[in-house]
Amino acid sequence: MEKIRFSTEIWTGDAALQGLLDFHDQRVFIVTDPFMVKSGNIAAITDQLSEKNEIKIFSDIVPDPPITKITLGVEALNKFNATVVVAVGGGSAIDAAKAMKFFTKRITKQKEEILFIAIPTTSGTGSEVTNFSVITNSEAGIKYPLVTDEILPQIAILDADLVKTAPQNITVDTGMDVLTHCLEAYVSIDANDFSDALAEKAFQLVFENIEKVSKDGSNIEARQRMHNASCIAGMAFNLANLGLNHGIAHAAGAKFHIPHGRLNTILLPHIIAYNANIARNSSNVAALKYCNLARLIGLSASNPRIGIRSLTNTIIQLRRKLKMPDSFQAYGIKKELFDQSKNDIAEAALKDGTTAANPRKPTKEDIIAILEESFTKN
Ligand SMILES: NC(=O)c1ccc[n+]([C@@H]2O[C@H](COP(=O)([O-])OP(=O)(O)OC[C@H]3O[C@@H](n4cnc5c(N)ncnc54)[C@H](O)[C@@H]3O)[C@@H](O)[C@H]2O)c1
Ligand SMILES: [Zn+2]
Repeated sequence: MEKIRFSTEIWTGDAALQGLLDFHDQRVFIVTDPFMVKSGNIAAITDQLSEKNEIKIFSDIVPDPPITKITLGVEALNKFNATVVVAVGGGSAIDAAKAMKFFTKRITKQKEEILFIAIPTTSGTGSEVTNFSVITNSEAGIKYPLVTDEILPQIAILDADLVKTAPQNITVDTGMDVLTHCLEAYVSIDANDFSDALAEKAFQLVFENIEKVSKDGSNIEARQRMHNASCIAGMAFNLANLGLNHGIAHAAGAKFHIPHGRLNTILLPHIIAYNANIARNSSNVAALKYCNLARLIGLSASNPRIGIRSLTNTIIQLRRKLKMPDSFQAYGIKKELFDQSKNDIAEAALKDGTTAANPRKPTKEDIIAILEESFTKN
């Protein structure tokens, strides 16, 4: 038996932030990064919190949040004795806040539940609706996914106005992360009709809107659609998990420090080819499902071979139009560092919890081959 539950309440539409006006007499701990304070996004949120609340802002978060920052955050959160945690930012701020809340509860053995609100400012990770947090051990060069329902936000606020300040590169990196979430959740061994419905819708929304937001970041309608797609894809992979693309991206991200979505996009065509395994068998489940997605966005897909070719070519063209690198080399990773790291990346990717849901079970040699294909231009 499987129990399917969507427990995060989603506040969306005009003036969604005004829901915060209902909070009184709370101790509100805001977790964010320095840019959010500078850009005025935090002021837009604190303006909605009445003076009857005590507010503390922890604005030290950096991309790929390291354990050291989490430790500082746990101390500050504990000292402040928060009743509400509000995470404001991209996946890094939301994931860091999740880990802080989790470890604070463990260390202090506190009984009262802290209310957790996630307010994403990128349309990418879907972290606002997932039980998933990715934390980095910078010294060891490893990213750890923490997976537990204890870190699921109770409330997610989707306000696309907060995303408008994202520059073109962050907009497309995070947008392509959404696309990767859709593709991985859809072909995952844990996919079901519910996660498929979510992944299909989010996939269409990304294809309809990503070029619009890349060209014009002030297009608020397209921004809201991408924001919705990110959240819907998060709901899909919260049910179905992800796959090898993320397994490798977590491992390689900790070594190469490439933005998460950009790294996923370098790997994507190679992962589709590996999973579809078209040379051997043109009708495995993943191949048929990729073909469904190709049809959904109007590509020719009269058989799996044609469908997968059209899907892969369309993703490669999209990547070019979005001005994204097509290989590790094009991103600027040096061959020496790549060669030194590939064995460790393959070993870490094999152990990553997301790899377990991949439709084709990889060996270490398979992963090294995918990494090598992704090193040079395709
Ligand atoms: N929890 C999950 O379910 C999940 C899923 C996928 C990835 N992740 C993790 O999330 C992290 C990536 O998150 P991300 O891609 O959202 O990026 P991020 O949070 O790392 O932010 C990237 C940069 O964008 C900036 N930024 C964020 N919002 C902005 C805005 N509105 N305007 C201008 N700049 C803005 C940040 O200041 C930062 O410099 C990685 O650590 C990844 O492993 C988590
Ligand atoms: Zn991702």
